[in-house]
Amino acid sequence: MNKEVKLEDIVSLAKRRGFIYQGSEVYGGLSGTWDYGPLGVALKRNIMNLWWQMFVEDRDDMYGVDAAILMNQKVWQASGHVDTFTDPLVECSNCHARHRQDKLEDANKCPTCGQTGTFGEARAFNMMFKTNVGPVADESSISYLRPETAQGIFTNYKNVVDSFYPDLPFGIAQQGKAFRNEISPRDFVFRSREFEQMEVEYFVHPEKWEEAFEQWRKDIEVFLDKLGLPRESVEEVEVPENDRAHYSKRTIDYEFAFPHGKDELLGLAYRTDFDLGNIQRVSGKTMEYRVKGSDETFVPHVIEPSFGVERALMAVLTSAYREDEQNGEKRIYLALPEHLAPVKYAVSPLLKNKPELVEKAREVYQMLKKKYGAVMWDDNGNIGKRYRRQDEIGTPHCVVIDFQTLEDGTVTVRDRDTTEQRRVEATVLYQ
Ligand code: GAP
Repeated sequence: MNKEVKLEDIVSLAKRRGFIYQGSEVYGGLSGTWDYGPLGVALKRNIMNLWWQMFVEDRDDMYGVDAAILMNQKVWQASGHVDTFTDPLVECSNCHARHRQDKLEDANKCPTCGQTGTFGEARAFNMMFKTNVGPVADESSISYLRPETAQGIFTNYKNVVDSFYPDLPFGIAQQGKAFRNEISPRDFVFRSREFEQMEVEYFVHPEKWEEAFEQWRKDIEVFLDKLGLPRESVEEVEVPENDRAHYSKRTIDYEFAFPHGKDELLGLAYRTDFDLGNIQRVSGKTMEYRVKGSDETFVPHVIEPSFGVERALMAVLTSAYREDEQNGEKRIYLALPEHLAPVKYAVSPLLKNKPELVEKAREVYQMLKKKYGAVMWDDNGNIGKRYRRQDEIGTPHCVVIDFQTLEDGTVTVRDRDTTEQRRVEATVLYQ
């Protein structure tokens, strides 16, 4: 990995090349929100699809759900989020800026105006976005934009058990939007107010949670390898009891060496029977699991691997970002794993004013598109410029059609990382 990656390099590349734009930019933006451009969407989907394939499709013990974002307010009362999903907020009496107390570099100094001793008592600020469902705004119509996808899984636990009656252990997976009214969104998409999670609630026999926890550590490592994150850039950090979320008896934070410093990429938590127990208590419906062929019943315990898509994407970009020199010129490229690259092949005619080259290039382009889908037609500027552009978006292969192609059907294929070019029969690429 390039050790010198700066946050501004990533932000500027992401904007310049159409990965990520500021949310509502045309109106001056909306803090903590981001919009994904054509390449950002492709990269994000590739990450999410990889996760879904590895943790749902390739396994026999996993069930996918897609629950509503708006949920009955009882969900958030029972889960403890209404009472405890808070961050400590302090306000500067000089400039009135508000900050998250536990993230201040100097607990006494306001980072906005530089004054010291201007903070009053911290107050607990609830991070859930509150809204009302329906035309009457009263207590009974209160709802929240979900701050985690997990609760949409827990509330469907019974449905999945009744429909599929799976053996324990089994998991329910969900990907989707989550919202937190962060006091200080920061570090590009790292801390946003609207983001996406990929979560599994893995239901186990209460006595077997440690085994499952250890297995998840291994599975997470495999996934992080597939994202192309160097092992040395990720560290497992055991979270001490006083820093753990209210529902957790053990948590490991996976910290990644982001450009802004080491910070949480994802979490692995042992949530005990906290959530199913609460649902059972508040709803009055049993969440007990009956072991097949026996009378043994219990409320399952839960292991929860929880991934943030934006943080995964930032870690992928950070790991892939490279600068080198080619023919005396600085080059920026993204050494993305091929399965994550938004574009797999770029196809160009050597000269765009030669109809015979364009026609042949179109033919090759169509064939590659049929095979790979994510193929880009690129005839803007000279070949050197096209290579630079494709390097910056991480396209592993650039195919150029020239006069020799018309004679013998061969094309040049240029490799993004080595910049080496080889001549191959075009048909070999798509057969
Ligand atoms: N269900 C458990 C849960 O939500 P969390 O540690 O609060 O646990 C899980 O969040 C993951 O969601 C984090 O590790 C991170 O990847 C992502 N995440 C949380 N807050 C975020 C934010 N404000 N912006 C972007 N990603 C966030």
